Amino acid sequence: MRANPDDRLTIGEIIRRTGVSASALHFYERKGLIFSERGTGNQRIFSRHMLRRISLIIVAKRLHIPLSDVADVFATLPADHAPTHKDWQRVSRAWRKQLQERRRAIERLEHELTGCIGCGCLSMKACLLLNPDDTLQGRGPGPVRLQNSADRPRRSSTP
Ligand code: FES
Repeated sequence: MRANPDDRLTIGEIIRRTGVSASALHFYERKGLIFSERGTGNQRIFSRHMLRRISLIIVAKRLHIPLSDVADVFATLPADHAPTHKDWQRVSRAWRKQLQERRRAIERLEHELTGCIGCGCLSMKACLLLNPDDTLQGRGPGPVRLQNSADRPRRSSTP
């Protein structure tokens, strides 16, 4: 018999296929990220299409995307049947903006790693120029030059 997205899988099969622990699955279920039903003997049974949700949770965790953001996105998906391609397209659009912001933050970090990040350490040559006497502390705590794009030096429009 061929597998299909509406197959029912035991928690053991879900654990084997995803590598996620039973306690993590319970946690995701409590958070409303995944759903199960009760089968014979009160055993928890999952639809096969939950594998995709669990896999996306794993990836989101690796990317440090908060589970609350994942939950917001998953809340728009049907729980009683496998989401369609169109459903996932909608999810993808919702997620794209967040991922773009993350990409920009990573690019900024990559770019600024050898420069002054405005953290108050004054340990780089560039700090003398970009954060003399830690003047950037007036803009708030943390590496303000990484956090706020407005703190980035602006290029002069005159040549
Ligand atoms: S890198 Fe820390 S203040 Fe410049």
